[in-house]
Amino acid sequence: MSTRPSDSARASHTAVVGLQWGDEGKGKLVDLLAPDHDLTVRYNGGANAGHTVVVGDERYALHLIPSGILVPDCTCVVGNGVVVDPWKLLEEIEGLRGRGVEVSENLRISTRAHVVMPYHKLLDNALEEAISGQRGGAIGTTRRGIGPAYADKVQRSTAIRVGDLRHRDRLERRLETILSLRTRQLRSLGVEVGDELSLPRLLEESLAAGDALAPHMADTTWLLHDAIDAGKSILFEGANACLLDVDHGTYPFVTSSNCSTLGIPAGTGVPLGHVDRVLGIMKAYSTRVGGGPFPSELHDEIGDRIRERGREYGTTTGRPRRCGWLDLVAAKYTAMVCGVTGIACTLFDVLGGLEEVSLCVGYRLPDGSVTDRFLPDAEDLMDVEPVYETMSGWHDPVDPPTDRASLPDAARRYLDRIESFVGVPIEIVSIGPERSEVLVAAS
Ligand code: IMP
Repeated sequence: MSTRPSDSARASHTAVVGLQWGDEGKGKLVDLLAPDHDLTVRYNGGANAGHTVVVGDERYALHLIPSGILVPDCTCVVGNGVVVDPWKLLEEIEGLRGRGVEVSENLRISTRAHVVMPYHKLLDNALEEAISGQRGGAIGTTRRGIGPAYADKVQRSTAIRVGDLRHRDRLERRLETILSLRTRQLRSLGVEVGDELSLPRLLEESLAAGDALAPHMADTTWLLHDAIDAGKSILFEGANACLLDVDHGTYPFVTSSNCSTLGIPAGTGVPLGHVDRVLGIMKAYSTRVGGGPFPSELHDEIGDRIRERGREYGTTTGRPRRCGWLDLVAAKYTAMVCGVTGIACTLFDVLGGLEEVSLCVGYRLPDGSVTDRFLPDAEDLMDVEPVYETMSGWHDPVDPPTDRASLPDAARRYLDRIESFVGVPIEIVSIGPERSEVLVAAS
């Protein structure tokens, strides 16, 4: 663990959370804030997440390892709420080491975290295919086995945790039952099951992965509480985003974890009362990957322009992202659910050069009435019409802005409107992918 001394006995703890449908640029923000914290902790999700961090000429795409790994002296923790694909994790560790990034004692993985197995990915795939004809289509998952792994966690009798990978007997017993069930289930869905799901092969591969990960395994609940008691400060890194939260998002077009800040206590063992600052990350516009309602989606050349300027293609799957205007109805709701104390508005530069920009400030319901409250039902959300406020756009500034005051007038008015609607100050505006390309509000 980092031995960096902290200034006071009660250090301050921060959470970074996405306020939209993911890909808001959380990786960059975590990378920016990590130097002020001793530990960075992931509390939810799995290899479905893709956090991009640009350091100089290097671009890193992280999936399971917290973005703080790129910051010296920061201990990174994969909390119990994460579902870990051990082979993907090992690949990520090797990839980072190969590029000269230190991954040793600075990475800790909860023995309580659940394991994503190859049959979870096969099931994810098969289930997506099976429901693709329904209204709204398939969920459009990343097919990384996330849903089936969380389902097994809740099912209990068919689950495997990271700590189990160190125990041959336990693992063999569990896999025997699970493989017999899953093989039959997969065959009934028309999936050909090959040698990759044979007990001897999967057992040996799992034990080998367990051996390789053993130096990183820990009881991270105690580790975090010991760190808190020692006055160290923690950064909680949310993966995916609040509108994908299994309880509070656009269900069923969501992921299978609590990606809002409400996932922190369950996913780490640290009570939410310890978190002093919640930074909500929001793009200057909206994007979504996969299926599900998206009231402010654009199907025109402005949507295409945003996709190209914003490089809106999935970090994990490479899929083109659906693009649209900023939905303030959704942002106000997610800021409320996550207890956001400040906003970081990312990819702000992408909107430069448009004649006009629009903000979604209400939803018109099929009966003609207008609401500014987000709706709990995805099918109802598919039927709303966005109500827009349209404002003048701005040109790309010739000189890079140095603070919010140096932005063009129309750009400042756009940011002011976001603040007044959501009711939370914008603390950071990101104007490019580099670490340095941020405008930070004076505190
Ligand atoms: P799953 O998490 O792979 O089950 O996918 C469920 C839904 O969440 C799909 O619409 C995915 O595209 C979306 N999703 C999951 N993780 C991310 C993410 O990190 N960014 C954006 N979308 C995501």
